[in-house]
Amino acid sequence: MRSSFDHPRRLRRLALVGGLAATLALGTVSAAAGGVQTQGSSDAGLTATATGAPKDYDQEIVDRFDSANSVDHIRRLAVNIGPRLNGTPQEREGAEYIGGVLKSYGFDVTLQSWGPVSTKSVAKVTSPNADLPGGPNWQMAASTSAKFTGDDAAVEGRVVYAKTGQSAADFPADTAGKIVMMDYSTTASVRNTAVVNAVSQGAVAVILAHPAGNNAPPSFTLTTAQPNIPVMGGGSAHHTWIKDLLDKGPLTLRITTNQYVNPMGTNVIGIRHAVGDPDGTKAPIVMVGAHIDSVLGAPGAHDDASGNGVSLEIARVLSQYPLDKELRIGGFGGEEGGLLGAKAYVNTLTAAERARFVGEWQMDMVGTPYEPARLWALTPNGQSNHVVQEAYNAGARVGFDGLRNCRLGQSDHQAFFDVGIPSSLFIWLDYRPPTPPAVCGPTGGTYVTEPQYHRPTDTMDNISPERLQITLDVVGGAVAHNALNAVTVSAVSDGGRPLAGAPVRADCGNGPRDLGATGADGRLQTVLPHATCDFTTTVDGRVANERGVSIAGDQAVKMTVDLTKPTISLAMPADGAVFTLGTAATASYRCDDDLAGVATCAGTVPDGSALDTSAVGFHEFTVNATDKAGNAADKKVTYQVVYPWKAHFPETMDGKAGSAVPIRFGLGGDRGLDVIAAGYPVSQPVACDSGKATGTAEPTGGPGNSKLGYGDGRYNYVWKTDKRWSGTCRTFELKLDDGSSHFTTINLK
Ligand code: BES
Ligand code: ZN
Repeated sequence: MRSSFDHPRRLRRLALVGGLAATLALGTVSAAAGGVQTQGSSDAGLTATATGAPKDYDQEIVDRFDSANSVDHIRRLAVNIGPRLNGTPQEREGAEYIGGVLKSYGFDVTLQSWGPVSTKSVAKVTSPNADLPGGPNWQMAASTSAKFTGDDAAVEGRVVYAKTGQSAADFPADTAGKIVMMDYSTTASVRNTAVVNAVSQGAVAVILAHPAGNNAPPSFTLTTAQPNIPVMGGGSAHHTWIKDLLDKGPLTLRITTNQYVNPMGTNVIGIRHAVGDPDGTKAPIVMVGAHIDSVLGAPGAHDDASGNGVSLEIARVLSQYPLDKELRIGGFGGEEGGLLGAKAYVNTLTAAERARFVGEWQMDMVGTPYEPARLWALTPNGQSNHVVQEAYNAGARVGFDGLRNCRLGQSDHQAFFDVGIPSSLFIWLDYRPPTPPAVCGPTGGTYVTEPQYHRPTDTMDNISPERLQITLDVVGGAVAHNALNAVTVSAVSDGGRPLAGAPVRADCGNGPRDLGATGADGRLQTVLPHATCDFTTTVDGRVANERGVSIAGDQAVKMTVDLTKPTISLAMPADGAVFTLGTAATASYRCDDDLAGVATCAGTVPDGSALDTSAVGFHEFTVNATDKAGNAADKKVTYQVVYPWKAHFPETMDGKAGSAVPIRFGLGGDRGLDVIAAGYPVSQPVACDSGKATGTAEPTGGPGNSKLGYGDGRYNYVWKTDKRWSGTCRTFELKLDDGSSHFTTINLK
C-alpha cells in the first residue's frame, strides 16, 4: 500500500507560498509518482494519520491528495485513449474510463448521451513499431472528399516525405504503396495538385501536414477527383515528428479514417449520495466538473484531461469519508463544441435539484508547467462567489496565496452559472486582468495560452504534477471542506463565558485529532464527517467532555468547561456549635457541583456518621469536595464540646477580704482535677457600681493558696482572697479546659 504520507509534503508546503515560484522548487514529486496504482487503494476510510501530530479533517484530506494519481488518470485519457473529439468513440472511452474509476470509489455512475452533434471526420494514426512522439494515438482531420476506411480496413505502410508534392520530382522513387506526407498549403488548388500527384505515384494514404508554425490539424475538402485512399490534415507537430522519425530511419504508420455522422456526445456523472439521503432528494450537492473532450488532433492532456485527473483524485480521497453532502463528479463531453455536454447536463436538472447545489468547481486546464501561468478562479461575471471564496479559504489553509479571481466564460462553469448555480473555472493560465483601477467584473482581461493549447503537443509534457498538486489542495481542499459537515465547536465556562484559546480535540472513531483552538469568541469552525465524535477541551487544567456527539449535518457542539468549585453545604456540625460532652450528634453535609451534579465529598467523618463529642474542647471539622472537572473546594468549621456545667454559686456575692470563698460547680461527675484551663482562674478588680474593670486580671492560684477539690459529686474551688482587697469588688473567672468560662462578682468587705 502506498499512502500520500510518503510524499515530500513539507517541501511542497513551503514551496506553495507565492504560487508562481512553485514549479521550480518542487522537482521531486513527479519522480515519486511513477507507476502509482490508484484503483483498489487500501487507504481505509476514517483512518487517523499514522505519523505526526493528529490533524483536522481539512489537513488530513489535503495530505491525502496525491497528484501522482492525477497524472496517472491524465495519462490514461491523453495517452492510452488519446484525442477525445466530441462525438467520437474516444470521447465515450474517456467517459467510460472516468466512470470505471468512480465506480471503484463507490459512486453511482451514469453515462449520459446527448446530441446529436455535428458530423466528425477523423483520422486515427498509430504506428505498429515506432514510439510516436506526443503519444501513440495521433488524430488528424480526415478529408471528407477522400476515403473513409472504417476501423476494420486500416491502411498500413511506410511513410515517405514528398515536400509540397507539386511536381513528380518531389516524390521519392519508391512512393508506390507508401503513405505520403506533404506540406499542407492554405491554397486549395495546391492541395488538390499534391493529392492528385500522390495518387498517381501510387500512394496508399496522404497526410497534408502544416510545415511550420504551431498549427492544429487542418480539415479540408478536395475539389478535383476524389481519391479512393484516405487523405488527412496534420498539424505542424505531426509534420515535425514525422520528419524527425524519417531522419532516424524507416517509419511505418497505421491509419484509419472515420466519419461519424451526427453522433451523440457523452457525459459521465458520478454521484455519491449523502449518508442520510440515499435516494438523493434533499442533501446539498457539491459538484466538481471537467471536460472529457479535446479539440481535433489534440491529446488534451492539459485541456482537459488534467481537470478529470484532479476530479478523480478528489473523488478517491472523499470516498473515504461518510458524508452528509451529495458529491457529484461530472465529466462533460462536447465542451470544445460550445459547452454542449454541460448545457445538456444542467438541462436535466430539475429546479429542486438545482436549488440543492452548494456550487460547481469546474477545472479546465489545471496544471500546465507554462511559466507565466498562475491559478485563476474565473467567473462569467467576474465576481467572486461561494465557489471562489471557498477556494481562497482552502488556499489560505495550505499557505497558497497565488489564487486570483477575474472574469471569463469559455468553459462548462458558464452552463452552471446560466442556471443560477454558483460556479467558477479553475485554470492555470497567463491571464492578464484589466489594468487597475478597472475591476474584473465589467471588463474582464485578456490571456495568452501556452503554445501547446489546442494542439497535438498538448501531451504529458504539458502537465506539471506540482501545479496539479496545488490545484488539488486549493480546489480539492475547498470541495472537501464543503462536502464535510460544517461544525462549530464552542467552549464556554459553566458561567457562560466564551473561552478563547481552548484546544479542541475530537475522536470520531479513529483516534484523537487536534481541531485547533477556539478563537476570541470561544468558537472553532471545523469540518467533520458523518460520525460519532467525542470532543474534549482542557482549560486551566479543567477537562470538559462532550461524549458521543452524533455529527449528522452542519451543526454546533458546545463544550462547557466547569470552572466553578463545587459547593459544600454543612448542616452538622454548624460552625461554632457547642455540644455537651458525650452527646450523640450526626455529621450532615453534602457537596454539589453546578454542572455534573454531586461532587466527590469527604469530611472528617463520613456524612451520617457520629460526630466526635468524646473529648472536651474545640474541634475542627473539614469537608473536601472535588468535581468531575477537577475543581476542588473545602470547608472548615469549629465546634466545641463542653462539660455538662452546673454552677453552685451565685452570679454576685458578698465576701470578706482575706477569707476563702468556695466556688462550687458540677461537671456531670468526676472529671479529675485537671479541668481548669491553664492560667485560670483569674480575678480582676472592677468598679462596684458599674462593674467596669479598674485593674488587670491576675491568677488566683499559687502554692498554699487557692485550690480545687472534688467531693460529693461536685467540685469546689477554694478561692483565697487578699486582705488588701477589702472594700473593693472583683470578678472571678473560672475558665475550664473545655473552653468555657464562668464568672461571679464578689463584693469584699
Ligand atoms: N480550456 C478552454 C477554455 C479556455 C481557453 C479558457 C483559453 C481560457 C483560455 C476550453 O476548453 C475551450 O477551448 N473553450 C472554448 C470556448 C467554448 C465555448 C467552445 C474557447 O475558449 O475557445
Ligand atoms: Zn479547449
